[in-house]
Amino acid sequence: MRITGTTRLCGIIGDPVAHTLSPVMQNAAFDKAVLDYVYVAWRAPRGTAASCAQAMRALGIRGLNVTVPHKIDIMRSLDEVDEQAARIGAVNTVVNDSGCLRGYNTDAQGFLHGLRSHGIDARGMNVVVLGAGGAARAVVFALVGAGARVTVLNRNVERAASLARDVATASGAHVLHGLLSSDVMVSRLSDAALLVNTTSVGMHPMEMEMPCPREVLRRDLPVCDTVYNPRETMLLRTTAALGAVTVDGVEMLVRQGAAAFELWTGVEAPVDVMRAAVLGELDRETE
Ligand code: ATR
Repeated sequence: MRITGTTRLCGIIGDPVAHTLSPVMQNAAFDKAVLDYVYVAWRAPRGTAASCAQAMRALGIRGLNVTVPHKIDIMRSLDEVDEQAARIGAVNTVVNDSGCLRGYNTDAQGFLHGLRSHGIDARGMNVVVLGAGGAARAVVFALVGAGARVTVLNRNVERAASLARDVATASGAHVLHGLLSSDVMVSRLSDAALLVNTTSVGMHPMEMEMPCPREVLRRDLPVCDTVYNPRETMLLRTTAALGAVTVDGVEMLVRQGAAAFELWTGVEAPVDVMRAAVLGELDRETE
């Protein structure tokens, strides 16, 4: 990579951000596409989203990814917010067109692409989503937008209820919600066609845990896990052992990054190179 006077700048703002895989993934993509761009990570503490947006204009930064804790706050500082991002109520990608900042949410799109790449079309499907945090929001809105019937289960049931209310307000769709308990999972998953985990159960340091009991898993129930560290969570390993389709968190990460890359550059993203860069980095970390 050769940085010159014309190199365009992209990056990610968040806190914490030191362990983000996005710089490795995006710079590999810029290299592969032979684009004069560079991508860096900025630690931006809570409350600094507005000044980050101003910095973007002042410095002519072409694109930003936005992560915790700024995905909602940043919206107030943008000139336009894409329709889907507005419905979701969170922006993870910003494009700067000559000082005009537009916000998008590529998490939702990335999640759907990940499913499609495994031959899963959510239309008309009964889907159970575990968790009701930030990751769950993009997943639930994406699924509802794709025509799925969604049930959200969470340890804190009030958070699940609140997500269901937000979906109803934004899109009129009816999302069921309930408590993340063994009994509820057994009954809700009996006629489900897809299970999505968005909780942090299974993520390091909970890698020996599963967010649901083993007995709810079956050969004809595809499972998607948004956790990518480790790539094969206990949930996905158990699912794969039954012979069911699994979609891992790396796929969602790569696809949201690919969509952001395309918004900034107008060039088709080299998805395979991005995936290889992420996997290489994860391997290095576990060595
Ligand atoms: P993210 O942006 O990754 O979704 P988050 O907003 O902190 O992060 O959400 C984490 C999700 O994991 C929540 O649904 C959380 O449940 P609560 O809302 O009840 O806290 C869920 N979660 C975390 N640890 C959990 C555990 N040990 N058992 C069940 N759910 C858990």
